[in-house]
Amino acid sequence: MKSEEQEEQLRKEIFEKVSEFYRSKKGAETFIPGKTSVNYAGRIYDETELINLVDASLDFWLTAGRYSAEFESKLADFLGVKYALLANSGSSANLLAIAALTSPLLKERRLQPGDEVITTACGFPTTLNPILQHNLVPIFVDIELGTYAIDAAKIEKAITPKTKAIFVAHTLGNPVNIGHILQIAKKHNLWFVEDNCDALGSTYNGKYTGSFGDISTCSFYPAHHITMGEGGAVLTNDHLLKRIIASFRDWGRDCWCDTGHDDSCKKRFEWQLGELPFGYDHKYIYSHIGYNLKVTDMQAAIGLAQLKKLNGFIEARRKNFDCLYEYLKKYETHFILPHPTEQSEPSWFGFPIMVREDAPFTRKDIVSYMEDNKIATRMLFGGNLIKQPAYENIQYRIVDDLKNTDMVMNNLFWIGVYPGIDKQRLDWIFEIFERFLSGV
Ligand SMILES: Cc1ncc(COP(=O)(O)O)c(C=O)c1O
Repeated sequence: MKSEEQEEQLRKEIFEKVSEFYRSKKGAETFIPGKTSVNYAGRIYDETELINLVDASLDFWLTAGRYSAEFESKLADFLGVKYALLANSGSSANLLAIAALTSPLLKERRLQPGDEVITTACGFPTTLNPILQHNLVPIFVDIELGTYAIDAAKIEKAITPKTKAIFVAHTLGNPVNIGHILQIAKKHNLWFVEDNCDALGSTYNGKYTGSFGDISTCSFYPAHHITMGEGGAVLTNDHLLKRIIASFRDWGRDCWCDTGHDDSCKKRFEWQLGELPFGYDHKYIYSHIGYNLKVTDMQAAIGLAQLKKLNGFIEARRKNFDCLYEYLKKYETHFILPHPTEQSEPSWFGFPIMVREDAPFTRKDIVSYMEDNKIATRMLFGGNLIKQPAYENIQYRIVDDLKNTDMVMNNLFWIGVYPGIDKQRLDWIFEIFERFLSGV
């Protein structure tokens, strides 16, 4: 047998063993109410993810390679954007998004230290962190109750001549009021950056979130809609931004060759940039002060198998959300229940529940009861981030007040809607709510 055929045959045999391993492991899982944890999120996979992972390992390419290229192209196609660039986490993707906007290649539109970026204090720290890490000033606008999206009606109040960008997350999968934000961004010549890490598959006006911003980001952490262990992506429709993002991601280099390739520009030794001598190897010319935030091909291989399941995952998340909503509706006297932003169809990351201030129990009471009964709960990430110890000494400005953000910090928790929550687990969630609420 020729060595190529031999290799193919060996891979096939290895994959069959991997499937067998997966099936033997899977058979052992059973749900015991009150004993088995009902997670808030988790990875859903089968043998195809394991086979892809092993396939990429056998290639032993290790860094970004054929799987990364295919994932980037398929993710871009799915979302309807021109470019998707993989990064090693959603946080790295956010860092790249803001770093890219500081590029000198953007001339007078580049973000410079002291410029202001409109965002919220209610959310995940690594939406805020890149703003601070680039010596920009966050301007915090409060969120709406029920959608937990930035209160778009207050954004214009936040704008000063120093305001250059709006960077907000579609919290728990519920889109921000994109129509209104785009209008404001256009009117005031602001960049719009979507943190789409919680919202893969959400739509606004029938179009996927992540396709509206000048730059958008995704996360593929195991809790998110699809996973590759650690992973993220930066999305854009703009060719210059794509080049800048790739440069910051790949050490700051000016060269755009894929890893392992040389001379894509066909003039590798014919450049003259900066004060370097003519002909200095383009591979080692740096036009940005960059990072290395690339993925490995093993991560992308897992992601590719996950991407094929995305439509099913989105549907399951929506169905679980609807079941929880239908059930909890009768308790609206105790809870503020979530609702989608107008014109949107969220691919929910979780089901947020706000305990009303006049309820006969506190968030702590109900969260403890659920956790004691093995139902995982989460706070809305950092609550009000400026009350966190890390941000004690930052420079910022608040528009009006952050009353609703504080309510989220004090009274809101969320539970899972991920596809791992099946009928048995949902029934257990309902039973625990019933037991708790019948006793108050
Ligand atoms: C809104 C938001 N942005 C960014 C991130 C960071 O993603 P990662 O964990 O992949 O760094 C998260 C994480 O859950 C998130 O919820």
